[in-house]
Amino acid sequence: MPESVRATSVPAESPSLEGSTAQGAAQTPEEAGVVNRSVPQSAALPESAITATGLTKRYGDFTAVDGIDFAVSRGESFGLLGPNGAGKSTTMRMIAAVASRTAGDLTVAGLDPERQGPEVRARLGVIPQQDNLDEELTVRENIIMYGRYFGLPRRWLLAKAEELLDFAQLTHKAKARVEDLSGGMKRRLTIARALVNEPDVLLLDEPTTGLDPQARHVLWDRLFRLKENGTTLVLTTHHMDEAEQLCDRLIVVDHGRIMAEGSPSGLIREHSTREVLELRFGMDRNAELAEELGAVLDGGDSGFDRFEVLPDRLLVYAERAEEALEHIHAAGHRPVTSLVRRSSLEDVFLRLTGRTLVD
Ligand SMILES: Nc1ncnc2c1ncn2[C@@H]1O[C@H](COP(=O)(O)OP(=O)(O)OP(=O)(O)O)[C@@H](O)[C@H]1O
Ligand SMILES: [Mg+2]
Repeated sequence: MPESVRATSVPAESPSLEGSTAQGAAQTPEEAGVVNRSVPQSAALPESAITATGLTKRYGDFTAVDGIDFAVSRGESFGLLGPNGAGKSTTMRMIAAVASRTAGDLTVAGLDPERQGPEVRARLGVIPQQDNLDEELTVRENIIMYGRYFGLPRRWLLAKAEELLDFAQLTHKAKARVEDLSGGMKRRLTIARALVNEPDVLLLDEPTTGLDPQARHVLWDRLFRLKENGTTLVLTTHHMDEAEQLCDRLIVVDHGRIMAEGSPSGLIREHSTREVLELRFGMDRNAELAEELGAVLDGGDSGFDRFEVLPDRLLVYAERAEEALEHIHAAGHRPVTSLVRRSSLEDVFLRLTGRTLVD
């Protein structure tokens, strides 16, 4: 959805939508005869929801997306994981047909977003990084106005809005103005709104950034339901737990390039040990201790692989981190704190880039 849509394309509506009741079951947009699908419907769609080959975006001399290749299958939940400035939103904007590409090929549902923008947008639901809800309107009106952009009839939309409000757990807020919602509610409304055209593919740019843990879990639950119902999800995040929860497969991106690709568990297996021991010896001692501990652990049976020295912590990568800790204690070392945990995508990122994902 172009970010300019709300401002320019939706006609002002009157009278107020509040107080209207939805009548009858919602038809699909096709049944209502309102969505002009000039390409075959789902059954005949290509297996790949999205394909990108050598996808590149340059702004002047600066390359934001540097020739990336990936394919997203229909029904898959696919993630772009990377730090600030990696090129995630730029990639999403090219898929969403709101930014042009500099080079490479891109198809969305078999269509070229650049040449077939309106058709591509009709098939997508877009949740941009920054909510672009209409603050002046009520929650229900936001959904209905957005549907009007797609040419969906008001009566159909009234029923659809109730369904989406229920899905987003916002029925009790239907008449509230957007500016009175919490951050998590706004995010759920943005998702509800993006579903109004019954999209095949949902693009979510950092769906839960800035939300508290409970609000994030509510959102994850909603996204999980969409996935179960066959919607293709493409999401960006720099939360590794989100990627681990939601993504069947992901690419790790940094500086516009793909560093690795795979399932969350596959990436961890490939690029990290099973466990990690996090040690704190005090600010300036971690690097120095790494050298001493290397001699201790190399000879042991903990499955020790390597260290990462961070400013505040020493990470010991080992198959059996408890055993590594025992060896360290036995050699007379006394860390101030020690924590044993499973490896995560954060460790994969650290391994691949030498940097932490969230600085
Ligand atoms: N319109 C633009 N003009 C110039 N540079 C841009 C423009 N849009 C993005 N960039 C640059 O492209 C790079 C990638 O930006 P992008 O927004 O895609 O990153 P991101 O991975 O989404 O990061 P974040 O996690 O912070 O949202 C950044 O260095 C950014 O400054
Ligand atoms: Mg971004």
